Amino acid sequence: MAEPGAVLIASGPWDPAPWAAAMRRLAPERAVHVWPDLSDPGAIRYALAWRPPAEALKRLPNLAAIFSLGAGVDGLVERTDLPDVPLVRVVDPDLTERMAEWVVLQVLMHHRRQRTYDRQQAAHRWHELAQPPARAVRVGMLGLGHLGRHAGGILAALGFSVAGWSRTAKAVAGIACFHGPEGLEPFLARTDILVALLPLTPQTRGILDARLIGGLARDGALGGPVLINGGRGGLQVEADVVAALRSGALIGASLDVFEPEPLAAGSPLWDMADVIITPHAAAGSDPETLSRGIHRQMLELEAGMPLRNLVDRRRGY
Ligand SMILES: NC(=O)c1ccc[n+]([C@@H]2O[C@H](COP(=O)([O-])OP(=O)(O)OC[C@H]3O[C@@H](n4cnc5c(N)ncnc54)[C@H](OP(=O)(O)O)[C@@H]3O)[C@@H](O)[C@H]2O)c1
Repeated sequence: MAEPGAVLIASGPWDPAPWAAAMRRLAPERAVHVWPDLSDPGAIRYALAWRPPAEALKRLPNLAAIFSLGAGVDGLVERTDLPDVPLVRVVDPDLTERMAEWVVLQVLMHHRRQRTYDRQQAAHRWHELAQPPARAVRVGMLGLGHLGRHAGGILAALGFSVAGWSRTAKAVAGIACFHGPEGLEPFLARTDILVALLPLTPQTRGILDARLIGGLARDGALGGPVLINGGRGGLQVEADVVAALRSGALIGASLDVFEPEPLAAGSPLWDMADVIITPHAAAGSDPETLSRGIHRQMLELEAGMPLRNLVDRRRGY
């Protein structure tokens, strides 16, 4: 078996300390360096990276793999200055479950008209609103990957009528599956609440625009469509989302991600009545839990096993 390789943590804007502490606890036999400490570049086999500084990964002659610290890899794939070694993304129940919590919370906030009840409470008003059952509401998961499938499954178990859209054909129990450009229109036409959980790629950038919003169902039990975006800010054309909320083409939205982040202080989205803003907090990367999965993969690789959850750089995710 090969020597345990050393680790470099290059976590860009994220605090590296909890990642380094977790890795040192898990693997006391490995040297763990935190960028810009590159005292022994030849010893580094693994980089744990999140928006790494330009120079961080350039001169590592024995680098075997880059582990992204987040599920979304757009910040790594679009870089031209990274070494050509396998890039591994996060797939971990901890993150998947956190995202499902956020998605289910947002769907229920709109479905159960919680923002209206908040306003009624502020006015000390006791008034029960009409409430369709979940089975009368069609949720559409835009992206049926690890996150979309799991959250969609929980929504289906709550009784919602769930469909999903992906790039390639899928069969998922309890979810009506659509795929490819030709599947988008029929998918949107049966969607009251759209949940975007796509990666940001050249193909998906700006997909949440006026045209897509215009394709959503308008005959649903909620009285109009709702947009929920937990994927990436670059998926949405913010001006189109604002215009749709103003015109009634959307009756509500929950947005966790923006481009750029943080959302500009002057954005009209902050003050819109049925818009819920969270600060890219839908599914945070927990250093303690995610480091365990990353370290397991290092051990597997050193035992001659293949890496899992590899990013296809050409595909962009
Ligand atoms: N807000 C947060 O806190 C947070 C946290 C974690 C992740 N995220 C975001 O969530 C995204 C999804 O994560 P994941 O783990 O579910 O990713 P994943 O497993 O890679 O799934 C991505 C899904 O999107 C589909 N897709 C990609 N490009 C497409 C296209 N051009 N047309 C149609 N479908 C397309 C894929 O189709 P196929 O199944 O056919 O490949 C797949 O179903 C991440 O990329 C990240 O940006 C956000």
